[in-house]
Amino acid sequence: MNILVTGGLGFIGSHTTIELIKNNHTVIIADNLINSKIEVLDKLSTLAGIQPTFYQIDVTDEAKLEEVFVNHKIDGVIHFAGLKAVGESVSKPLEYYYNNLVSTMILSKICVKYGVSKFVFSSSATVYGDQPSPLKEDMELKKTTNPYGETKAMSERILTDTSIANPNFAVSLLRYFNPVGAHESGFIGEDPNGIPNNLMPFVTKVAKGQLEKLSVFGNDYDTIDGTGVRDYIHVVDLAKGHVKAIENLKEGVNIYNLGTGKGTSVLELVNAFMKVNDIDVPFDIVGRRPGDIATCFADASKAEKELGWKAELGIDEMVRDAWKFEQNNR
Ligand code: NAD
Ligand code: UD1
Repeated sequence: MNILVTGGLGFIGSHTTIELIKNNHTVIIADNLINSKIEVLDKLSTLAGIQPTFYQIDVTDEAKLEEVFVNHKIDGVIHFAGLKAVGESVSKPLEYYYNNLVSTMILSKICVKYGVSKFVFSSSATVYGDQPSPLKEDMELKKTTNPYGETKAMSERILTDTSIANPNFAVSLLRYFNPVGAHESGFIGEDPNGIPNNLMPFVTKVAKGQLEKLSVFGNDYDTIDGTGVRDYIHVVDLAKGHVKAIENLKEGVNIYNLGTGKGTSVLELVNAFMKVNDIDVPFDIVGRRPGDIATCFADASKAEKELGWKAELGIDEMVRDAWKFEQNNR
């Protein structure tokens, strides 16, 4: 298939591009580089052996985006492009609503116009809100705690309604749990701007000596050791899930959790990082972070049953590859 990957130079999009090429698909990338670097394109060419066609465009720019559909016969779209920093979304809600919703609306409008029948969307476990885990796709969604989360819930509704009105437009809503790790080459990975908000990139910066100490946000949750429990998933497993999702897309709206089904606490993750990589990560226990929940992990059985996809890599591979990328990444 000819697959348009929006946000294809970003963290998850770049890993997915490699897996798509490995599976003989042709990838066309649209990215405005707001949170990625052009060097990733060369790295992708080295790793995949083929240079994907690249458009440096904003997906909210309808005229420029339409040119891509005029130039290529697009069979499917994987829509990663979006802003994703939760804290920033609270201080800049309009930028988040504009970028994340307008991109989804324009892209789906053009897909319908050009008869593109396969659309895969990057959603998040955040749409479940605070509910008991394991989280299942048929649970009622609860209010999210920030504008970023709202853009995911609203995009899911926009795509669902568009698919209902246009039966040829099949949609897969992929709810990611906590993507971490990097390509095993250490060539591409997660490279956030500024001080990381998420746990794994923070840990790698502390290990490297660029940040002094990790703050563990709370040890008084009702969990195995009192620290927050999440379902960390290796980004390469996540990327493979996208290939399965677009190749096996059924008509209508399909929702899948992409997680491992296993919860890991903050301290378990940090201890695994220190042990596997044989390096110290100093930390302090501090108060809870506002908006955090105690536990969040997936029931991942639907994707296994319907897509034949299951995460294969464990915490040890995640911490190993995250550290390898950080060491390579100057
Ligand atoms: P990322 O920031 O690394 O990648 C997003 C890419 O989209 C970047 O390359 C950025 O330059 C590009 N982009 C943003 N807005 C654009 C626009 N209007 N036009 C063109 N390009 C644009 O993020 P990621 O971690 O790879 O996440 C990909 C998607 O998955 C996002 O939609 C994110 O919200 C979602 N998601 C991520 C996580 C996570 O933990 N990383 C979890 C759940 C969902
Ligand atoms: C957060 C977002 C979620 C988003 C995801 C990926 C919130 C409430 N949720 O998820 O919407 O999809 O990032 O971008 O922000 N932790 C520490 N110290 C740190 C950083 C994190 O102890 O410096 C803890 C957190 O309290 C949590 C766990 O590590 O228990 C994971 O945190 P994080 O990586 O930020 O992901 P989430 O909060 O699960």
